[in-house]
Amino acid sequence: MRSPSLRRRLLTILVVPMALAWLGSGALIYVLALHYANINYDRSLVDGARALERMIRSESGREELSPQVRILMEYESAEPTYYVVRSLKHGVLASNIDLPAGIPLPVIDATPRLDSVDGIRRPLRVASLALHGDDSGDTIVVSVAETLAGRHALAREILVGTLPIVLLLIALVLVLVWVGVSRGLHLLDPLVEQLAQRRARDLSPLDQRGVPIEIRPLTRTIDALLARLRELLELQERFIADAAHQLRTPLAGLRLQAERALGDPRPESVRDALVHVERLSAGAGRAAGQLLALARAQAINESASGAARVDLAQLARTYIAERVPDALAAQIDLGYEGPAHGADVAGDPVMLREALVNLVDNALNHAGEQGSVTVSLTCELSTIALGVEDSGPGVAAEWWPRLGERFFRPPGSRRDGSGLGLAIVRRVADSHGAAVVFGRGRDGGGLRVTLRFAALAPDEPQPSRSSRV
Ligand SMILES: Nc1ncnc2c1ncn2[C@@H]1O[C@H](COP(=O)(O)OP(=O)(O)OP(=O)(O)O)[C@@H](O)[C@H]1O
Ligand SMILES: [Mg+2]
Repeated sequence: MRSPSLRRRLLTILVVPMALAWLGSGALIYVLALHYANINYDRSLVDGARALERMIRSESGREELSPQVRILMEYESAEPTYYVVRSLKHGVLASNIDLPAGIPLPVIDATPRLDSVDGIRRPLRVASLALHGDDSGDTIVVSVAETLAGRHALAREILVGTLPIVLLLIALVLVLVWVGVSRGLHLLDPLVEQLAQRRARDLSPLDQRGVPIEIRPLTRTIDALLARLRELLELQERFIADAAHQLRTPLAGLRLQAERALGDPRPESVRDALVHVERLSAGAGRAAGQLLALARAQAINESASGAARVDLAQLARTYIAERVPDALAAQIDLGYEGPAHGADVAGDPVMLREALVNLVDNALNHAGEQGSVTVSLTCELSTIALGVEDSGPGVAAEWWPRLGERFFRPPGSRRDGSGLGLAIVRRVADSHGAAVVFGRGRDGGGLRVTLRFAALAPDEPQPSRSSRV
């Protein structure tokens, strides 16, 4: 496919209006030319009528035109001139045409009047004037007429003379547009240069100096993209640093245990080392899984998948059913309180499940034997609260604000853990516009974590996830 061209685009946009402008200017020129031709032709027609009047006045008897006058009047110029001399008493005295009756009578001795009349074959322009006849009470009307052909011919001549000039001007404009676009595009050269000279890791905003204002929306979009790339790069770097940090300790532990087993080949020592190896590798595996989950939760806004309608009630019930065997094994009473379905929110079902997994994991880990874990869903008018609480020792209130920080574990945390579970929960909640609230369980003990979502009305269409600009 041919690449779009600004010049071609501009020219195609301009060609039709320019052609119309050319035709319009042609019509205007013709009308104007005809107007001025009319003024001039009318003037000479009036002059003709006056000349005839003077000749008649100089004649002795006004009933007859002398042969000299006739010759003068009938002399064929380029445009045939018609004349009629008539007396109101004696009728037509001399003429070389039959003018239609009904031309209004001019006022005696006043300036000649001009009329457009329909002649026998074509329209005529007539200049008439009146003078006193020899007979007392008689009036002589002198009329000189001509067709309109001369005027139109002159207007046409002017038109034919000027139209090519207008056409030339239009062609000049189009050439200037062509050249102007090329020259105008050179204004982009500094920006192109700036981008070309960037190092791959330089994601700072573009230098806007010298960038034409028409191009600013483009540079702003590039800047927004650079900002997102910066964020993504930071995320990746953090992930790599976190992964290295998280895996270094278990790897060092594994090596230590291997050295121990090699140095003391007694079966009980080897077994003890293997127990440690098993625990360390399980911890490393879990840490890697948590790191990946956190990275996925952080990149959620970058994912192309739009938000789906997720029924939290169904999600919670399904997940709890999966964890019942674990709870039974740990002698923990795991329960659900809330509607069976119909707690719809807009979101990513995989990430929402990941948040629930971490909350229930923590609760089961800390509830203690014979303890209880309750997942509850409360649907209010416009919010849905998902709560997970347990009957364990809970977390001292002073640490609540820090829960959800990456790798934060309150002092004295007993169990193994990477300290990423609540960070995942907080990130998922943030990307779903949900608030995270920490509190105590219903008997004043344990920890209760509540996520408060905006509810989707039953018939509300699925909103698309807001993407950052
Ligand atoms: N329900 C709970 N009861 C008591 N303490 C809790 C509870 N949930 C979390 N904590 C404390 O908060 C800390 C951080 O929890 P978080 O889930 O972020 O990490 P973790 O459980 O240690 O590791 P992991 O990444 O494997 O989940 C835990 O180490 C624990 O001390
Ligand atoms: Mg956890």
